[in-house]
Amino acid sequence: MRETVKVDLPGRAYEVVIGPDLLAEAGARISPLLARPRVAVISDQTVAELHLNALRDGLANNGIEMTSLALPPGEATKCWAQLQVCVDWLLDQKVERTDVVIALGGGVIGDLVGFAAAVLRRGVRFVQIPTSLLAQVDSSVGGKTGINAAHGKNLIGAFHQPALVLADTSVLGTLTARDFLAGYGEVVKYGLLGDEAFFDWLEAQGPALAAGDMAARIEAVRRSVQMKADIVMRDETEQGDRALLNLGHTFCHALEAATGYSDRLLHGEGVAVGCALAFELSARMGLCAQEAPSRLRAHLRTMGMKTDLADIEGDLPDAEALLDLMGQDKKVVAGQLRFVLAHAIGDAFVTGDAPRDTALSVLNDALAQR
Ligand code: GLY
Repeated sequence: MRETVKVDLPGRAYEVVIGPDLLAEAGARISPLLARPRVAVISDQTVAELHLNALRDGLANNGIEMTSLALPPGEATKCWAQLQVCVDWLLDQKVERTDVVIALGGGVIGDLVGFAAAVLRRGVRFVQIPTSLLAQVDSSVGGKTGINAAHGKNLIGAFHQPALVLADTSVLGTLTARDFLAGYGEVVKYGLLGDEAFFDWLEAQGPALAAGDMAARIEAVRRSVQMKADIVMRDETEQGDRALLNLGHTFCHALEAATGYSDRLLHGEGVAVGCALAFELSARMGLCAQEAPSRLRAHLRTMGMKTDLADIEGDLPDAEALLDLMGQDKKVVAGQLRFVLAHAIGDAFVTGDAPRDTALSVLNDALAQR
């Protein structure tokens, strides 16, 4: 059970290999990239405890030595201080221009280590081994790397494509149900933004997939990665189409800021709630039938996911304040809020044309249900 998706960027092509027990094959898959049999692995403490030994054994099968660093888990690690820790450690390990750095972990580790690899000696190659569903279907593919700033998330970074992505679907079995479903929010996003048949498939297969069906998990990751690869090949640096991947994210980023980037709302949960709000806004603007947001909400509810603002515990700011938080999003262009809206499930588009009053009324109504 192996699937391969090719990200065919000129001069920077790479493969995303998807399937179970890939950690055991890491040596065989990575050795063609190596000038010498040695890699530097950066992970977080939680992931290292669960998966570092399996990776070490997989590399050792092909005579590859591994040195490793484990950082504190959590979003706060995506910062200047930990970037410096990574870069200094990689220099201490005498990582050279022709060596390969491995990011073993979720989105935080992938973004941070990818950025460290981008700036180390003006760019060394890196391999992504994503261990969360969110990282497997989104953040490990496409070369966005970076850290957060006091002004907002992901405001400092670089495009630096990995040399290989190994999405080991067995490791998804170690995720909590909440983390798995948060990643599933990004999977649903792909169906919503460009492939209604995939959304139909998710409606049918989602419960089996969440329960652990390996074939369904592989297929969901493959289809998501293929959609992302197609978009990244058209628009690597987000001049156009790549912004479609931000469906749900304008609302999501405001909600994450409002909840202090805390455990109250995981990123993928915010994406799911944000997608529901984006479809509601699309329906209010007469762009899509009301049936579309209703169908989306029904699927999220069936999956036991956060769906509405009412599902977010604790206080939230009022609608005006949430809109202001959206105004600080990096997707604002010339002061104009950019939304990804939809004509239907599977047919999204980017616009700077959403009337503020309509967005406000969507948020007011959603807040009133709390
Ligand atoms: N996560 C959105 C992108 O990679 O463009």
